[in-house]
Amino acid sequence: MGKLSVPRAGPGPGAPETHVTVIRMLCTRPCKVVPAHSNSPRSHMPGEERMTTPELRRNQHHPELRAAARHIGRRRFLTVTGAAAALAFAVGVPGTGTAAAAELDTARITDDPFTLGVASGDPHPDSVLLWTRLAPDPYQADGGLPAGRVTVDWEIALDERFRRVVRRGKATAHPEFHHTVHVEAGPLAPGQVYHYRFRAGRFVSPAGRTRTAPATRSRAAGLTFGVVSCQRYDQGYWTAYRHLAEEDLDVVLHLGDYLYEYAVNDVAGARAQPPGTVPEVFRRETVTLEDYRLRYALYKTDPDLRAAHAAHPFVVTWDDHETENNYSGDTPENSVPPEEFLLRRAAAYRAYWENMPLRRPQLPDGPDLKLYRRLHWGRLAQFDVLDTRQYRSDQAYGDGWQYPGPDSEDPTRTLTGDAQERWLVGGWRRSDAVWNVVPQQVTFSQRFNSTTAPSKVSMDSWDGYPASRERVLAGAQAAGVENLMVLTGDVHVHYGFDIKRDFSDPDSRTVGTEIVTTSVSSGGDGSAKPANWETYMAANPHLRFYSGLRGYTTVSLGRELARADFKTVSRVTTQGAPLTTAASFVTEAGEPGLKPA
Ligand SMILES: [Fe+2]
Repeated sequence: MGKLSVPRAGPGPGAPETHVTVIRMLCTRPCKVVPAHSNSPRSHMPGEERMTTPELRRNQHHPELRAAARHIGRRRFLTVTGAAAALAFAVGVPGTGTAAAAELDTARITDDPFTLGVASGDPHPDSVLLWTRLAPDPYQADGGLPAGRVTVDWEIALDERFRRVVRRGKATAHPEFHHTVHVEAGPLAPGQVYHYRFRAGRFVSPAGRTRTAPATRSRAAGLTFGVVSCQRYDQGYWTAYRHLAEEDLDVVLHLGDYLYEYAVNDVAGARAQPPGTVPEVFRRETVTLEDYRLRYALYKTDPDLRAAHAAHPFVVTWDDHETENNYSGDTPENSVPPEEFLLRRAAAYRAYWENMPLRRPQLPDGPDLKLYRRLHWGRLAQFDVLDTRQYRSDQAYGDGWQYPGPDSEDPTRTLTGDAQERWLVGGWRRSDAVWNVVPQQVTFSQRFNSTTAPSKVSMDSWDGYPASRERVLAGAQAAGVENLMVLTGDVHVHYGFDIKRDFSDPDSRTVGTEIVTTSVSSGGDGSAKPANWETYMAANPHLRFYSGLRGYTTVSLGRELARADFKTVSRVTTQGAPLTTAASFVTEAGEPGLKPA
């Protein structure tokens, strides 16, 4: 696609001066070192290109970033405001009118800017978030647009032909936000399906379908949602998304690893496309803001992903790869100075917000982004969406699969951080929902990889933070949560677990269910019965189902019954695999635990 036939505007506004306020001291713990070929499901594939350390590309950071890194490194402190200024983030929030870029005449946009499709997300009873990005040339750093702001029209209608438009308005695509558009469309009626689209100049976007949540106090009768995670572009086609787009769903929950930071080769890895299909710019690990922004563009050019976004609203949370494999809080995977890592984290979080259908409260502030949040589906379901990456203690024993011990069992360790834990338990105390659903990242239930004691456990999952898990389970019990459903991604397999009040006692009460959804493509084709299948089923009596194929899960909630369907595709290294329902389970309200449907 060609570029715009307009002269380039000057550089965007510089970062304003800010007062340096010390918010917190950087972590001084040693960085963990995970072998690149560990048995973690997210380790690198043999032969894969891997940069030894992102520090190698320090000099490719934007000049303000480099200056900030020097400054921060000297003082050994990071300030949130300082980081924000360094990243030129303090140029104004969309819609506040404080951004300074000149207006771009949309008549001069000569190529379709809607190459990355549309999306919607976080449905409330009276509004929904609508998203798009203007990028006539998405594999260019600037998307093929000069640094001017663009006025975009949006409309939302009751019908797909847009004859009954109920709301319309104008939004601004700011160059400071990479010409992304976030519209909180409303007021809208509760419990209603809508269709939406955007217009920039003479170009109209594809139409998307979305919906609002039921009225807050309503006795909503039912809800069906899809659950997805882990879409590594170069490990397979997103056939699962093609099938997901055709499902009749109210909402899709994305549990993280929306993108992977690793280099993508010119044939897109397992997709085995013609040499040179993937441009040079993707053949390196994402470190800078430009890297992350470009990677989202690569991912969103996938037609199956665009179809899924256009078909359903998404509620998203992240895991590690949107930033870096197995990071924890301020601690990177590799031996990079924390101040350097926090700049990378700020870039990753910034690009995440820009490219996801997220609302204003999730707008990042330097290296911080408050992603945990609560959504309601009438009085049928409460969703407490967690972030188990940003505030966690560092993994014990150097991460990976290890024997538990005093370090991992230290009661001061946390996976959620104190504030999020208080928020979760406090929210349960006030909940009057039938189902309390917790979309989050890493496996919650105990998982042994050996039938002989002691067994190793994954230090990256809740097994590596048992005190944190105990506080959450005790909090659920104290709050009287009857129907707890934890939703999990990360591990690239389907698991169905009964959550035990005390995992060390097989006779302990079942207090909830955990649905772990497999990957969309990460790990390649996989197999229905991985090599460790027999061992895992024997070592974990509360594990009721396990499949290692790719796919997604659908969950239907009624007032009396919940049903989970684990869906798989036979392969992802070629396109067009059919969809199979590998297993179905139900759980009755008031009687936790999975039963074959
Ligand atoms: Fe993953």
